[in-house]
Amino acid sequence: MSQVTYFDRKNTNCNKWDGQTGMFGEEGLLPLWVADMDFQVPGCVTKALSDYVAQGVYGYYHVPDSYYEAFLTWEREQHGFEARREWLRFSPGVVCAFNWITQFMTGPGDAVIVLTPVYYPFLQAVTNNHRRLVTSDLVNTSGEYTIDFEDFEQKIIENHVSQFILCSPHNPAGRVWTRDELKKLLDLCRKHHVFVISDEIHHDLTFAGHTHTPSFCIGDYEDMMITVTAPSKTFNLAGCQNSVIMIPDETLRGKWDEYVAGIRVTSGNAFGYIAAEAAYRDGHEWLREVKEIIYENYLFVKNTFAEELPGIVVSPLEGTYLCWIDMKACIRPEDMKEFLQKKCRLALDYGDWFGGERFASFVRMNLATSKENVEKAVRAIIDELGTGYF
Ligand SMILES: Cc1ncc(COP(=O)(O)O)c(C=O)c1O
Repeated sequence: MSQVTYFDRKNTNCNKWDGQTGMFGEEGLLPLWVADMDFQVPGCVTKALSDYVAQGVYGYYHVPDSYYEAFLTWEREQHGFEARREWLRFSPGVVCAFNWITQFMTGPGDAVIVLTPVYYPFLQAVTNNHRRLVTSDLVNTSGEYTIDFEDFEQKIIENHVSQFILCSPHNPAGRVWTRDELKKLLDLCRKHHVFVISDEIHHDLTFAGHTHTPSFCIGDYEDMMITVTAPSKTFNLAGCQNSVIMIPDETLRGKWDEYVAGIRVTSGNAFGYIAAEAAYRDGHEWLREVKEIIYENYLFVKNTFAEELPGIVVSPLEGTYLCWIDMKACIRPEDMKEFLQKKCRLALDYGDWFGGERFASFVRMNLATSKENVEKAVRAIIDELGTGYF
């Protein structure tokens, strides 16, 4: 029997289905935006949480060794990464963590580089903290994205960049960077004394033979890098707010510890730890099935557009459950929002959120939902375009 169950989340106070007004100005759209899943979490997680809830006492939690063991074993078995207990720190979210790190590793006005298009909180982490945003666009070759290393290095030099926020695997381009690509990036950062935050939150969601390489496994970058990850994307636990920060270098760990001592956020709530531990210990089969569903959804999107609207370019999904789609052959960028919302009744992430107007012909579609929802979304786009309105 399948371990993965679709759940109708409407009217459950969930942001994706019930909180569209903030970003879209209205409710009632078919949502394939926010990066969480419309699937119930692994049964082992529900069981662990239910057992805890049944106790009826929710006082201060002592994080057991078994939590760390579950995470470390997962990293070793899934990614060949021999992380160590003493490297690990807590934060309620990966976004929160890379904002904190930016605050203690850089100063106001310092330049921070990102590879665009990129998950928009990267951009906000720079600008909200009054750092200077430097972008190096990925090279888009018929939907396949690669890194322009020359541009990356040039921008670092010209702007005296002091920090790089790396998205590995990459949201929204769907790339699982190869070891070679990562090594080139990290070596350039080493050469120019650029500190690296490696956001590996999507590391468990890789497809079709693509393998994620943890940045720390590539070489000796310990004194210039912090990795941030979480079980939240992998096991649909974002609401539990439990992320793992990996800091092998003692000096950098000291900086982190000093910073969090100042804000007094050194540990999280019991539910997050319990959910994460159960998932890392027993969530393997559930994840395998979820990945199959996501990949089938991706193939459906790709093949259907290829057959019916071949101008639409669907980027290869090597990793993440976020599908990056270029619609410029069919819709003018300035018409995208009206077309997708008013005509198709869809809530998708708009391309310009990921780095500006030059990405306005793109959308990002969340594939971690039922096949029916994905079919509805794709059909809506094809049918509405068929009316010739745009
Ligand atoms: C690259 C990346 N980092 C971080 C997050 C969110 O992390 P958190 O919910 O732990 O703040 C996302 C969610 O989509 C993401 O894609």
